[in-house]
Amino acid sequence: MVKIISIVSGKGGCGKSLLTAVIGRALAREGERVLLIDTDIFVRGLTILLHSFKRKKTEDNLINFSDILGINKVNSKDIEPVKFKKEDLNLSRFFECDVLPAVDSISAPLDYDDRDLSDEKFCTNQLKKVLNIVGNSYDYIMLDNRAGMDSLILASCKISDFVISVAEDDPVGKQTNSNLVNHLKYNLKIKKVYTIINKGRNIKYYDDIISRSDIKSEFSEIGVIPFDIEILQDFGTDRFWNTVNETLYFIAVLDAWNNLSNFENIKELSKSKYRFPPKIFMNKTQGKYTLIERIIRIYSITFIFAGIFLWVYPRIISGKLTEFELFSIVSILVGVITLIISTTNLRKFIIGDFTKFFKDK
Ligand SMILES: Nc1ncnc2c1ncn2[C@@H]1O[C@H](COP(=O)(O)OP(=O)(O)O)[C@@H](O)[C@H]1O
Ligand SMILES: [Mg+2]
Repeated sequence: MVKIISIVSGKGGCGKSLLTAVIGRALAREGERVLLIDTDIFVRGLTILLHSFKRKKTEDNLINFSDILGINKVNSKDIEPVKFKKEDLNLSRFFECDVLPAVDSISAPLDYDDRDLSDEKFCTNQLKKVLNIVGNSYDYIMLDNRAGMDSLILASCKISDFVISVAEDDPVGKQTNSNLVNHLKYNLKIKKVYTIINKGRNIKYYDDIISRSDIKSEFSEIGVIPFDIEILQDFGTDRFWNTVNETLYFIAVLDAWNNLSNFENIKELSKSKYRFPPKIFMNKTQGKYTLIERIIRIYSITFIFAGIFLWVYPRIISGKLTEFELFSIVSILVGVITLIISTTNLRKFIIGDFTKFFKDK
């Protein structure tokens, strides 16, 4: 039986599209047949993110999600949105999974007639048509929705087996998430709504993810994904998909999904499939240091102490140390010690974090 999952959020830019693509690929690597549908026809974040990997130009007459909604004012396809077959769909391959893009050109005009998006029944019918014709071919279908709430999002949540709401880890993100989740759960009686906290603050190490995931909330939180500067810097570039699997972001996504398997009958994502490089070989991100940086710093501190000692020791022995010199030595020592203390997480700074990295929950 195909599992249909809606990804939603209270506000935009919180990482839905990226999460959809990352989970989709990870599931596909487990051998599951995965289809990602970009239902966000205005932003088309997923379509644009995956665009550079879909090198082959798709045929113009194939239909994308915006055609299914039948609201394209320009570029409208000959195929009527009411009558389409599986062969008519623009099912592009994205690495291991399939994608139904929002549009066939990422620069397609935003010239929509959005009348029908306020018609929940119409949206439900169109979604059902797609799911009916492709449902048998996939194990998971993920719907990457736009932010907030409208009839299309509502229809998408209602036809899904469960909903994942993504919330940024700040008061605005959490408030918009609680508004949305409450609306879905209590007004619309959509029971299975889970929250993933993304761009988690103050998460530097894998341990921080574990300790944060113990916090239970009324919004069925299934995991916290750290704010990862490498993700932000490489997002949308060609090298992005080469390195994403080696980030703290990725390991947190796997954990969040696997937490969900406590509540839903879903395929667990194996961590042993991936080679997470030991932290000491990873670049400095979010205040973490590489081995080289650590060695240089530890050596420089050692040299400062050794230098002071070699200078001072003979003077103390011979009783030639002036008060002025004593004062300067004390200030140097205070300076160095303050510097050491201000290095956050000194133990991890010195020994690295790689022993803990593979520790499972
Ligand atoms: N955990 C994270 N750490 C850092 N940046 C992130 C993280 N998750 C997402 N982002 C960034 O947030 C931006 C929006 O992501 P996107 O998936 O397009 O959000 P949405 O689909 O919710 O609008 C992108 O630049 C992406 O790189
Ligand atoms: Mg998006």
